[in-house]
Amino acid sequence: MTVLVTGGCGYIGAHVVHALHQAGERVVVVDDLSYGKPARIEGARLYGIDIAAPGAGDRLAEILNAEDVDSVIHFAARKQVGESVEKPLWYYQQNINGMLNVLTGMTQSK
Ligand SMILES: NC(=O)c1ccc[n+]([C@@H]2O[C@H](COP(=O)([O-])OP(=O)(O)OC[C@H]3O[C@@H](n4cnc5c(N)ncnc54)[C@H](O)[C@@H]3O)[C@@H](O)[C@H]2O)c1
Repeated sequence: MTVLVTGGCGYIGAHVVHALHQAGERVVVVDDLSYGKPARIEGARLYGIDIAAPGAGDRLAEILNAEDVDSVIHFAARKQVGESVEKPLWYYQQNINGMLNVLTGMTQSK
């Protein structure tokens, strides 16, 4: 099985990537590296894209098809409390659009 993990270079995502590798699964990661570290996901293919950006749903559909992905686990999100209070609309844009683009990619993929 091939699993795509968004935010796989982050704190929780990297632990899940490790657990999936331990279970013998193939893992593909999507992470813009705004907070993540690529060294955490040795052995997984990394796509460095911003899932909240315009057009990211189409790009995610391409990746899901190209990598023959079976399952998606979504962790890519902004989560800094102070920053979210300073920039609430930007947080809304990032986290809601990111989720919508992941769902768009999943529904557009074959
Ligand atoms: N850490 C916790 O204790 C905890 C507890 C409950 C829920 N969560 C939730 O789990 C998720 C992941 O948390 P975490 O602690 O691993 O955070 P994290 O910041 O360590 O990881 C998030 C990852 O997503 C990436 N990312 C963020 N926005 C992105 C975007 N637009 N496009 C592509 N990549 C993007 C970052 O570069 C980072 O690698 C968040 O939704 C968080 O709210 C975390």
